Parts: sequence; structure tokens; C-alpha cells
Amino acid sequence: MKNIINFAHRGASAVCPENTMAAFRKGLELGATGIETDVQMTKDGGLVLIHDETLNRTTSGSGYVKDKTLAEILEVDAGSWFSPEFKGEKLPLLEDLLDLLQGRDTVLNIEFKNGTFFYPGMEEKVIAAVREFKMSDRVIFSSFNHYSLAHSKTIAPEIKTGILYGEGLYRPWDYAASLGANALHAYHQAVLPEFVEEAAKHGIAYHPWTVNDPERMKALIEAGVSGIITDHPDVLAGLLAK
Ligand code: G3P
Ligand code: MG
Repeated sequence: MKNIINFAHRGASAVCPENTMAAFRKGLELGATGIETDVQMTKDGGLVLIHDETLNRTTSGSGYVKDKTLAEILEVDAGSWFSPEFKGEKLPLLEDLLDLLQGRDTVLNIEFKNGTFFYPGMEEKVIAAVREFKMSDRVIFSSFNHYSLAHSKTIAPEIKTGILYGEGLYRPWDYAASLGANALHAYHQAVLPEFVEEAAKHGIAYHPWTVNDPERMKALIEAGVSGIITDHPDVLAGLLAK
């Protein structure tokens, strides 16, 4: 069994509606040892797990999360768009997922979705929740907004951070170190074996996303990555068991 974190991307999002409790539970059932999720904030400060800035694509509602109250968010259906089988699934709050994972050793990757809207104070609220659940040692924050990661590191140095990026970052291990980050959450095509080796020499882990092709998974395992973010945790679990 290889010691690589198997992150279920938005939960087991290939077989369940993404970022729902059903998807998170299914991810664990399928062998995930980590969960990746996205967090946005309502106008009254609720921490909601949803990928998009709007409710339009993945719920029965519409409009921006930032313009809704928590009570309004809890009314929408987040399962029917995927399949009638999931009718009635609610949008989870961060606290719901922390509660599910409490008492387990699952790693939780919380992605701050604050690239388009900055959600002032969101990092503080997320950190307070993680600390309340005493899960600081098992959480890793990531974001495409690297100002946000630098900020979270100043207020919670004990919680790991991972730099999210697409491609073409020059010597990303140096950049990660300059931000006090622990990991590189790179688009998987931007990950070469020599990069993984060089990053490791600098104490920086690689957690590539979103890897769904088993051959690509094998290549990244061989390259020595520390974790893989996938919609198919069952496929990755099968490879890691060999
Ligand atoms: O965290 C990895 C991946 O989730 C980043 O992209 O758009 O799926 O949140 P996205
Ligand atoms: Mg994400």
C-alpha cells in the first residue's frame, strides 16, 4: 500500500453530485484518504461548500452565493441536477464536513474560492471552524488566490497550505517556500518527474489535480507525488493497493 493521499475531488464527484454530503461519504466508502472541497461565503457569513460563485449550475436555485443568506442557501436542492436519485441533497456547510471527518484520519483539502470575490474575513472564519473541530493537523488550505494563502499562513501558521496553479510557474518550489506553503497543487499536466524530485529536496509536496486517467495516475505515483486529487478515488485506491 503506497502512502499517497487519495483526495476525492469535490467528493466522489464522478458518481455523486459534487460537494454534497452524499459525495463526501461515497468518497470515503470508495477508499479516499483525503477529501477536496471548495468553500464560498454567504452575505451573512455562512461557509458553504460549492464550486461555483453562483447556484445556477449545481442547484435548483440561482444567483450569487455572496448575495444569499444562509437560510436561503439551505433551501435549494443540490442533487437533482445530477440525478433524480439525489433529490433533496442540501448544500453542505463546512461544519457538516468537519463533523463527518471528526474522529477519522482523513486529510481535508479546503479550497478557498476567493479568486473572483474576495469574501473578506472568510479565512478567519474557516480557521476558527477548523480549530473548533481540532482538525488543524489534518487540514490543508489551497487557493488560486495566493494572497489568501499568505494571509491564512500569518493567522494560522499551524495549518498547511498548497499553492494552486495551472501551468508554467517557474521553480514553483521556491515560490511555495517564499509563501511559507507546504505543497504545490498543480494542474497535473504541469507536473514533470524532475519537478517532483526538486520540490522534495526543498521540502515541498506535490498534489496534482484532477487526475482521472489510470495511466496518468501511475506515472505520477512513479514520479513520487505525495497526493493525487481525483474524481475517481476507487480507481486510485486500486492502484495504490498494488
Ligand atoms: O483543488 C484542485 C481543483 O479542485 C482546482 O480546481 O476548479 O476543480 O476547484 P477546481
Ligand atoms: Mg477545487
